[in-house]
Amino acid sequence: MKRSSSTITSLPCLSLFLLLLLPSVYSDDDLIDKICQATPFCDLCEASLRPLSPSPSDPKSLAAAMASVVLGNMTDTLGYIQSLIRHSHDPAAERALAQCAELYRPVVKFNIPQAMEAMRRGKFGLAIYVLGDAEKQTDSCQKGITNAGADDESSVALTARNKLVKNLCDVAMSVIKSLLNGL
Ligand SMILES: *[C@@H]1O[C@H](CO)[C@@H](O)[C@H](O)[C@H]1NC(C)=O
Repeated sequence: MKRSSSTITSLPCLSLFLLLLLPSVYSDDDLIDKICQATPFCDLCEASLRPLSPSPSDPKSLAAAMASVVLGNMTDTLGYIQSLIRHSHDPAAERALAQCAELYRPVVKFNIPQAMEAMRRGKFGLAIYVLGDAEKQTDSCQKGITNAGADDESSVALTARNKLVKNLCDVAMSVIKSLLNGL
């Protein structure tokens, strides 16, 4: 009697154990899905985090990886802006580009590296603030480009890059917020 009842009661424990064990095999993928689905641009989030190798396996490394994707894109865009300045012949467009470079430079050189360092010390609020500010600088750059009325191929390309950076900032802030909410 005693033996059979103990066998019965141990069964649910075993299946519960298996249920708890199974998802952990896939936890890396699930974590990226879970975190990306909470962002405003899920596809962009997936495109940023999936290709990384080794794959970040905890929320903190995902947030750090997302911040470095933002930094990479902003650094790249600053380089693009500088090359456009060198080849510009339109004074109004050149002024707008020079202003963009001024807006991007401190963010790329100081603010985002500082935010990444802050994140390593667990200061996520500061990182969210810096990324929000980076997004504003991108907006200001774009307003200047739009107002200069430049509609050549390179201005269109810069507009697309500004938009990508802006959306990446949104994704990065959302990933950090998920981390703060204990995801
Ligand atoms: C910019 O972001 C895209 C989308 O996440 C990514 O695929 C690309 O590698 C990034 N570029 C740089 C230079 O970091």
